[in-house]
Amino acid sequence: MNSTGRQTAPPIKRHHTARYYAHRVRESLTTRLSKFICTIFLGLLLVLGVVTFILWLSLRPHRPRFHIHKFSVPNLAEGAGFTEITFNVTARNSNQNIGIYYDSMEASIYYKDQRVATTSLLFPFYQEPKNTTVIYKELNGNTITENSERTMELMNDVAKGTVVFGLELTSTIRFKVSTWKTKGHRMHANCDVGVGQDGNILGAYKDKRCPVYFT
Ligand SMILES: *[C@@H]1O[C@H](CO)[C@@H](O)[C@H](O)[C@H]1NC(C)=O
Ligand SMILES: *[C@@H]1O[C@H](CO)[C@@H](O)[C@H](O)[C@H]1NC(C)=O
Repeated sequence: MNSTGRQTAPPIKRHHTARYYAHRVRESLTTRLSKFICTIFLGLLLVLGVVTFILWLSLRPHRPRFHIHKFSVPNLAEGAGFTEITFNVTARNSNQNIGIYYDSMEASIYYKDQRVATTSLLFPFYQEPKNTTVIYKELNGNTITENSERTMELMNDVAKGTVVFGLELTSTIRFKVSTWKTKGHRMHANCDVGVGQDGNILGAYKDKRCPVYFT
């Protein structure tokens, strides 16, 4: 049994081996081909990634720039019962090729932690690249809430000669690159603005840039 087994085994093994080698060759060809395709594919992916990154770097949107030019509370000397606030803020799109869509904008004015006025501004608008939009508003009695809690502090500040208000502009913006629009980003521009006893913006705050952040 053992000897016949040994005698018949080699031819079978040789036959098997030939087929096995043919198979191995075919398999290694396939492996090399698929490796080659994989390499090309990964190479293309890398090139695409680098190109996208460079495009993104050159097209990367800059947030709009806000500056405050005018802010006045004419009857501030009368204290907390003021009924009029006027402001002029500009929003500039400094991007070379990117437009900005603004949803309707909202303005809130704070004295310390208390909101003294809120109003909606402008209708939704589109801002071309390198364009500046003036945001000018005169608020009157309807939008100004009586500021009673902080009356003493306000009067103190008036006496000292500087009252600092916070003007917050809020909007949802989308960037437009060619025909593609990004998703909406909730944007806030926060202007700190000091006014003097006459209710007009103080020189130190005029034409200052307002920090912009997204939430
Ligand atoms: C607002 O300020 C800008 C920049 O100083 C000025 O060009 C514009 O005329 C002002 N607009 C109003 C209505 O005051
Ligand atoms: C800004 O946009 C307005 C409205 O689209 C346009 O009339 C004005 O010419 C633009 N200004 C600049 C400097 O491109």
